[in-house]
Amino acid sequence: MRVLVLGSGGREDAVARSLSEGNEVFVLPGNGGTAAYAVNLPGSVMDKDRVLEACVENRIDYVVVTPDDPLAAGLVDHLSENGFKCFGPDSKAARIESSKVFAKELMRKYSIPTASYEVFTDPGETIAYLEGRDYPVVIKADGLALGKGVIIAEDRETAVSAVGEMLSGKRFGDAGKRIVIEEFLTGPEVTVLSFTDGRTVVPMVSSMDHKRAYDGDKGPNTGGMGVIAPNPFYTDEIAKECMDTIFLPTIRAMEAEGCPFRGCLYFGLMLTPAGPKVIEYNSRFGDPEAEAVLPLLKSDLLSVMMSTTDGTLDRQEVVFSGDASAVVVAASGGYPGSYEKGKEITVGDLGDARLYIAGAMLKEGRLVTSGGRVLCVQAMAKDLPTALDKAYAVIGNVSFEKMEYRSDIGRRALV
Ligand code: AMP
Ligand code: GLY
Repeated sequence: MRVLVLGSGGREDAVARSLSEGNEVFVLPGNGGTAAYAVNLPGSVMDKDRVLEACVENRIDYVVVTPDDPLAAGLVDHLSENGFKCFGPDSKAARIESSKVFAKELMRKYSIPTASYEVFTDPGETIAYLEGRDYPVVIKADGLALGKGVIIAEDRETAVSAVGEMLSGKRFGDAGKRIVIEEFLTGPEVTVLSFTDGRTVVPMVSSMDHKRAYDGDKGPNTGGMGVIAPNPFYTDEIAKECMDTIFLPTIRAMEAEGCPFRGCLYFGLMLTPAGPKVIEYNSRFGDPEAEAVLPLLKSDLLSVMMSTTDGTLDRQEVVFSGDASAVVVAASGGYPGSYEKGKEITVGDLGDARLYIAGAMLKEGRLVTSGGRVLCVQAMAKDLPTALDKAYAVIGNVSFEKMEYRSDIGRRALV
């Protein structure tokens, strides 16, 4: 099959690499990692006509759309209308990520456990509401805000200033002109990616992201600095509870609302003292969760993806290895703030670990940095400590100027 993967991050390298076993893979625009085994095509994932042209020119059989922006903008709708089969939700279903208000209202209507909340657009009403609250409160922009649309306000003053900036459009543009204010929850966080065809839902191996930039969960939020899978807090008993109270009810709710979700639905969960609750939904694979979880998939990824499009997931084999997986991300010094680009990357012995490229490109045959999160190393072993040791040993063989990575990925899970 001729498969087109859209995007340019570490997630896309992981998806495309898995698909390259037995298929001819194209990536638009791709990166210095995908260039090694796939054909990188020029263009932007937000240019629907360019993507359609690339599908026609390269006689593509199946398109995999993984980034949130083109999903929300209706790329799957556009390609499907033009006869191309796609992995990923249409724009109506992608609202589960692109509108926090949509997601919260869905959960309220269908009694899916989540933090209690209110929706606001008016600054005066919001400020009155913030009077006499218990702090912290969590303030979320309704729309997509590059993963930065969540503010945890420790006190009223911080909350008032954040909502002022959001509702005026200063902070997140139109994405912040409607906001959700919700209850602050506590407990271990778990990511569960799932395949779904709109009726059947098959959870993948659970995982734990590490969102803060520095060791000890300190520093600013990032796109994710490392992952372990499975997540040791997510027991079989909790998995069953999540299936009954969250996963199936969400799939049924989307179907009942006339927007069945097909593709990968990301459940961001918090295991609170009152049971598992939804923190967020994403309409796509997580990054870097995909880099940790997809290598554990033993079944053929393309067959599983196509079954979500065709509505035959109930008949599809989806088997994961029982191994543990660890991902450590290397970033450019300064990330998530400003950082330098164009640093040459040297890669030594990888053993049986994998190197996924996120922000690097090929320049005259050399791999040079071009982004904040530059690459990640993924290793697997029978148990988590061994997988982590392997990943850290291998990342020691990779270097570029001002490379930074967390040295404590998975540590909290090991105690
Ligand atoms: P998000 O951008 O939705 O992934 O949220 C970023 C992070 O904010 C999450 O991973 C949580 O750590 C935190 N967060 C979001 N909502 C809540 C909540 N209601 N209570 C506590 N923490 C939250
Ligand atoms: N790693 C979090 C996300 O992909 O949203």
